Amino acid sequence: MPEKDIYILGIESSCDDTSAAILKNNTILSNIIARQDVHELYGGVVPELASRAHQQNIVPVVDAAIKKAGISKEQIDAIAFTRGPGLMGSLIVGTSFAKSFAMALQIPLVEVNHMVGHVLAHFIDDGQNKMPTFPFLCLTVSGGHTQIVLVRDHLDMEVIGTTIDDAAGEAFDKAAKLLGFPYPGGPLIDKHAANGNPAAFQFSKPVIKDLDFSFSGLKTSILYFLQKQTASNPAFIDQHLDDLCASIQGTIIEILIKKLKKASKDLGINQIAIAGGVSANSGLRKALTEEAERSNWEVYIPKFEYCTDNAAMIAITGKFLFEKGAFSDQSVAAAPRYSI
Ligand code: KG4
Ligand code: ZN
Repeated sequence: MPEKDIYILGIESSCDDTSAAILKNNTILSNIIARQDVHELYGGVVPELASRAHQQNIVPVVDAAIKKAGISKEQIDAIAFTRGPGLMGSLIVGTSFAKSFAMALQIPLVEVNHMVGHVLAHFIDDGQNKMPTFPFLCLTVSGGHTQIVLVRDHLDMEVIGTTIDDAAGEAFDKAAKLLGFPYPGGPLIDKHAANGNPAAFQFSKPVIKDLDFSFSGLKTSILYFLQKQTASNPAFIDQHLDDLCASIQGTIIEILIKKLKKASKDLGINQIAIAGGVSANSGLRKALTEEAERSNWEVYIPKFEYCTDNAAMIAITGKFLFEKGAFSDQSVAAAPRYSI
């Protein structure tokens, strides 16, 4: 008898994207993401506005995911949701919805750690992708986190390096704000950097021990540099925007690649993956591919849509947990500081 297909509904609401996905075995049938433009005006995510928008979006997004997948809700075998880490108000919306829907459908509920989800996005089968083999190292770089993760198995991973202050995405976004870009500025820096010279300007690079990172000094160094330049030439930023973006992006990438090289050398692992919103950065993707040539790395870069926050990564993680029978009960609560 052929094995029964497994359908998982994934739900993600940890920050400012409301997302729902339907996974069939290891393939994605739908991955709907409602972005929240409301934060653009404020230069960062406003938690109160994020939770309100999640509440408006969650039902239509789940409905759209089920319809796009072409299945009925009765076919869903389990609901996987992001329990944390993230913003409390945002997490509560996804968690409460997942609990209620699982109860209504009388199916298991599976809690997922958002950061594990970013790593396991590599195991979504899109028919073309090569999946990492164990053990591998994953550089998870997002708006809230910067981690080097040693991945021994799907559900056996350890953070071996992390940021002591800002995350890499935060460094992009804060630098972008100084340049006058709306939030999130990371993708805009990426776009302008493509036409600029990364060696045009020098910014300070941190000296941090072991495999940890720091980005707050870079932000200060950019701030002082811009203050100095614009004092004598108010049009400095406009006149040098592409070079500024390329130099800022180049510095962030250099900091990331340096620690990744150290981790690879220290642990003797040359399978290197990237994950999280910043892994959408074209400069980082290029630098990693170039380093792979030099250092003989096998590099894994997720499809663009599985880099930034999405429910597909929550669904695939939920599937691995579902297979282990790792279910949550109805008393589960959102966990803003949920670590790997
Ligand atoms: O993983 P993610 O969608 O949300 C969090 O869990 O934080 O990551 C969002 C972060 C933001 O800081 C955003 O500016 C950054 O990822 N980001 C980028 C790019 N696309 C998204 N940073 C640089 N270049 C990009 N192309
Ligand atoms: Zn994320």
